[in-house]
Amino acid sequence: MINTPIIALDFSNYDSTIDFLRAFDSESLYVKVGMELFYQTGPELIGKLKEYGHKIFLDLKLHDIPNTVHHAMKGLARLDIDMVNVHAAGGSNMMKAALTGLEAGTEIGKKRPLLIAVTQLTSTSEEQMKNEQLIEHSILHSVLHYAKLTYQSGLDGVVCSAIEAREIEKVTNKEFLRVTPGIRLEEDSIDDQKRVVTPQSARNIGSSAIVVGRTITKSADPLQTYLKVKQLWEGNGND
Ligand code: C5P
Repeated sequence: MINTPIIALDFSNYDSTIDFLRAFDSESLYVKVGMELFYQTGPELIGKLKEYGHKIFLDLKLHDIPNTVHHAMKGLARLDIDMVNVHAAGGSNMMKAALTGLEAGTEIGKKRPLLIAVTQLTSTSEEQMKNEQLIEHSILHSVLHYAKLTYQSGLDGVVCSAIEAREIEKVTNKEFLRVTPGIRLEEDSIDDQKRVVTPQSARNIGSSAIVVGRTITKSADPLQTYLKVKQLWEGNGND
């Protein structure tokens, strides 16, 4: 269980990211840095976030041959991040290679970054999965299959919808992380997310961590909204 909501820093450049974080001076955050930001600002931003004392989920979704992923992960572990991910579709050998890469890149005495996997992207429809990946199953079946494969490969969890979290727990175990985006407060617009849940229902239906983007980043008062999300996620708000 990760007690702090993970804020998705979906900004297009270094300066706007740092600007946004100014309001959080007194908070120890868990933030998610994705491809857009990392490919532009790379290790410099990661260094700055560490300086602020924030934890970092590097959402780069690696997917390549095992040897390449192993060496890429070894490099990423040296950045002293807290969590990183791969695509489960890369296969169990690739996932195991990612894990050994992280171990090899972690300084002795430090904890290796958590490693989680993406199962099916939420942008993939069942029809597309059938036509393009030639998978003749339901999306949920494919998600559960990939979650099991991820668990058997020794990883720490998956990114999934909160709605799938309980089913995933059943085919893995309680400690296997279910990191769930698609979180909104009751009063929010849902933007382009199709199925959203509130922080308190995510907790009730089996999420072990929540990723929250626009609800906080586009809020008129990001700090207050963050504190509200945190309180609801921790179970101290009104259900
Ligand atoms: O703004 P919002 O709260 O919808 O942002 C959610 C974050 O989680 C974004 O960074 C998005 O890319 C990410 N994400 C997602 N759905 C997934 C995987 C990641 O929304 N299945």
